[in-house]
Amino acid sequence: MRLLSRRSHSVWASLLLLTLMGAQSLVSAIDLNLDDDASIKRAAKIAASGMTVFYTGHLPGDVPGNLPAPYYWWEAGAMFGALIDYWYYTGDSTWNDITIQAMLHQASPSTNFEPRNQTKSEGNDDQGFWGMAAMSAAERNFPNPPADQPQWLELAQGVFNSQAPRWDTTSCGGGLKWQFFTLNRGYNYKNTISNGCFFNIASRLARYTRNQTYADWATKSWEWTERIGLITPTYQFYDGTNDKLNCTELNRIQWTYNAGVHLLGAANMYNYTNGDKIWRDRVQGIVEGLRTFFFEETNIMFEVACEGINTCDIDQRSFKAYLARWMAATTQLAPFTRDLIMPKLRASAAAAAKACTGGNNGDTCGHKWTTGEFDGSIGVGEQMAAMEVFQSNLIAKVAPPVTESTGGTSKGDPSAGVREDPVPELRDLTTADRAGAWTITAVSIVTAIPGWS
Ligand SMILES: *[C@@H]1O[C@H](CO)[C@@H](O)[C@H](O)[C@H]1NC(C)=O
Ligand SMILES: *[C@@H]1O[C@H](CO)[C@@H](O)[C@H](O)[C@H]1NC(C)=O
Ligand SMILES: *[C@@H]1O[C@H](CO)[C@@H](O)[C@H](O)[C@H]1NC(C)=O
Ligand SMILES: *[C@@H]1O[C@H](CO)[C@@H](O)[C@H](O)[C@H]1NC(C)=O
Repeated sequence: MRLLSRRSHSVWASLLLLTLMGAQSLVSAIDLNLDDDASIKRAAKIAASGMTVFYTGHLPGDVPGNLPAPYYWWEAGAMFGALIDYWYYTGDSTWNDITIQAMLHQASPSTNFEPRNQTKSEGNDDQGFWGMAAMSAAERNFPNPPADQPQWLELAQGVFNSQAPRWDTTSCGGGLKWQFFTLNRGYNYKNTISNGCFFNIASRLARYTRNQTYADWATKSWEWTERIGLITPTYQFYDGTNDKLNCTELNRIQWTYNAGVHLLGAANMYNYTNGDKIWRDRVQGIVEGLRTFFFEETNIMFEVACEGINTCDIDQRSFKAYLARWMAATTQLAPFTRDLIMPKLRASAAAAAKACTGGNNGDTCGHKWTTGEFDGSIGVGEQMAAMEVFQSNLIAKVAPPVTESTGGTSKGDPSAGVREDPVPELRDLTTADRAGAWTITAVSIVTAIPGWS
């Protein structure tokens, strides 16, 4: 994820186009009856259709797995994760083929989602979103790739195996840095989402494989994030911290996805440990702490850091999708949370449907769900968030995630992801790249992280 756009070419043209498209709004809305599964599935399909029109990677001459600018590579990984869940909730396989094609194209020869094209900007969190999509595919028994291709479980293990050795004890007593290429902007930032994706994948691998090594890493990751103060005693999740200052100053901005990514990881640890009290308390604490992200007394989800002041960027407009996704999945692994979580997903879905009245067909989704109307903001993130919050209301109707011993069919490889080719070093970046990265770092710290220096 980026603080500021580095690929500014055509970003403005795209935004202008989106604005023009968003302006033509008819009021027809998505007719959503939350007591009728077929109605929920129809709503999810409308939102999914609106999302996938942005994707062109499957067309001749385009690159499978990439969304066009201004979307970053990570968001495509998040989108395919959403489509895997879409299939699992609805049984509709419309987008399965493009999902499999995209995931395999981006899997990379080292089976860890480190394609060479991304090496100039790939962070641990970006890799994590693709890894979590692969993990979902394994847990949902999504159709397996041909035998001579990388397999879902193997890919999730590949991401884990690449990230565990990056655990960095040279500062802050541990933690993953945001970036893993030394010259990338953000290399000195240890952020909650990178550590959260790693925690999420490790805890799910532990439950799926019952290999204790993954559980040990999940515990270590949680404890570090908590010790450094990025998880507070009331389960608020701050954004990250500068390792040059040994993580003594925190950037306290709060995003839905940081709470969500830890919620599902903690629920998996709770389930893996068969109801351990420590993990139960953590799951309960996070669920209660989620009140930060629900608007006043309405149970309607909102992105508290930016929605009210209209500053949510392209990345941030997708974050509610992941909180909805992970809240729903949590109710399967930690069923004691169901009564706390479901009213929030229900109220949010009803509100989101009212925000889907934009575009030519009057069913394009906006970003804000709190206003009862379309707010003119459109894009992959807006569509994905609406789709996920709709379909999450079907969670009680679908089977819990499988494991290796309860019907999982994806083949793993505990040693996947160890690179055969060396990680690109300094010589792969031109002087211009380096100068550019530095300039943007300086600007982004001033503009994008209020109160942090
Ligand atoms: C990398 O970029 C080239 C050139 O655009 C493209 O042909 C190839 O498919 C890309 N590979 C991946 C994994 O995105
Ligand atoms: C840096 O932080 C870690 C973890 O909080 C601590 O153990 C270590 O002593 C600190 N190092 C310095 C030089 O202050
Ligand atoms: C773990 O998850 C399974 C599957 O949803 C569920 O049946 C079981 O009750 C969960 N375990 C605990 C301790 O809640
Ligand atoms: C458990 O996972 C670790 C970490 O990837 C791996 O080294 C080890 O071989 C695995 N053990 C088994 C029995 O698969």
